[in-house]
Amino acid sequence: MKRIGMLTSGGDCQALNAAMRGVVKCLSCSGEPVEIYGFLEGYKGLIYGNFRMLTGADFSGILTKGGTILGSSRTPFKLMREPDENGLDKVEAMKQNYYKLRLDCLVILGGNGTHKTANMLREEGLNVVTLPKTIDNDLWGTDMTFGFQSAVNIATDCIDCIHTTAASHGRVFIVEVMGHKVGYLTLNAGMAGGADIILIPEIPYDIKKVVDAINKRSERGSKFTILAVAEGAISKEDAALSKKDYKKKMAEYKYPSVSYEIAEKIQKKTGLDVRVTVPGHTQRGGSPCPYDRVFASRLGAQAGRMILNGEYGFMVGYKNREIVKVPLEDVAGKLKMVEPDSDIIQEAKMLGISFGD
Ligand code: F6P
Repeated sequence: MKRIGMLTSGGDCQALNAAMRGVVKCLSCSGEPVEIYGFLEGYKGLIYGNFRMLTGADFSGILTKGGTILGSSRTPFKLMREPDENGLDKVEAMKQNYYKLRLDCLVILGGNGTHKTANMLREEGLNVVTLPKTIDNDLWGTDMTFGFQSAVNIATDCIDCIHTTAASHGRVFIVEVMGHKVGYLTLNAGMAGGADIILIPEIPYDIKKVVDAINKRSERGSKFTILAVAEGAISKEDAALSKKDYKKKMAEYKYPSVSYEIAEKIQKKTGLDVRVTVPGHTQRGGSPCPYDRVFASRLGAQAGRMILNGEYGFMVGYKNREIVKVPLEDVAGKLKMVEPDSDIIQEAKMLGISFGD
C-alpha cells in the first residue's frame, strides 16, 4: 500500500490535472493499492491539514480540464520559516500532517517558489517528488514545463487577432505577455505571431532602437507594427540602476505596467497611434493544448514509476528530449532564462525581428 499526499502550489497553469491524473493512472495500473490525500490550496492545505481523500473517480475526465482540482495558492518560501498569525510553526505543521497521515511521499506540482519549499521539506526528511509546472518555462533543470505550450498558443492567438486590427487602422500595437522575469513565453509567442519587435527581460531595450525599428517599417511602407513585450521587459537605463534605485523608481511608477510606459514613449517620439493589449491571466486559463496533455501525462507516469521504485528527492524534468530525474537541491533557487546569444535569438534577428538592443 502506498499513501501519497498531493498538492498544487503557486500560480496555476494548464495540464496540472493531466499531470496528477498521470501519476494516479500509473500507480493504479501497477496494481499496487494506493491511497491519495489531496491537500487543498497548495502548501496551505498541508500546513493546516486541509485535505480530501481522492479516488480514481476524482481523476476521471480531467485530462482536458484547466485549473487544478485541488486549488492552489501562493505561500512564499521566505515566509515558511516565520510563524503564522497564531504562532503556528508552518514547517513543523507540514511535517506533523505528513507523519500523522503516515504518508510514503508527497507529489508536489509547482514552479520556482514551490520548488524551494519542496526542497526544504526534503531536507527536513520528507519524501518528495515534484513536477514542473509554469507558463513561464523558467524552471531550472528542465527544458520544458507543462503549461508553457498552452500559454504560447493563447498569447499567439492574441497577437494574431491584433494583427488584423492593427493592419486595418495602421497602428502600433503592444501585446504584453506574461512570464514574470523571463522571456520564453514572449519570445515564442512573438515569433509565432510574427511580431516585428520583441522585448524580453534578458535583453534590456533602448527605446531609441525600438523607435528606429518602427520608423524603418514606416519608411518601407508598413502601416503597422506589432510589439510583443514581456511583462518583465526592462530598459537599458533601468537595468543599469542599482537594486535600491530601481526599487525606488518602481515605488513611484505611474504606469499600470511596462507596456504603457513604452507606448507613451513611442507615441511621443513617432506621433503614431499606439495601443496596448494585455491578455493577462487568460494565458493561464482554459484547456491544456495537446502537447501539454501528452507532456504532463508522461511526466506524471514517470513520477508514478519513481514512487513505485521508492525514488524520492527529485523533480521529473525533460532534458534533450528525455524524461530525467533532477535532484531537488539542484533545482531549488535557480532561474532558467533565455540566453541572449542563443540560436533562437540569432535566428529571430536573421528574420528581421528587433529586440531593441
Ligand atoms: O508564474 C506564472 C505567472 O502567470 C507569471 O507569468 C505572472 O507574472 C504571475 O504568475 C502572475 O501572478 P498572479 O497570478 O499572482 O497575479
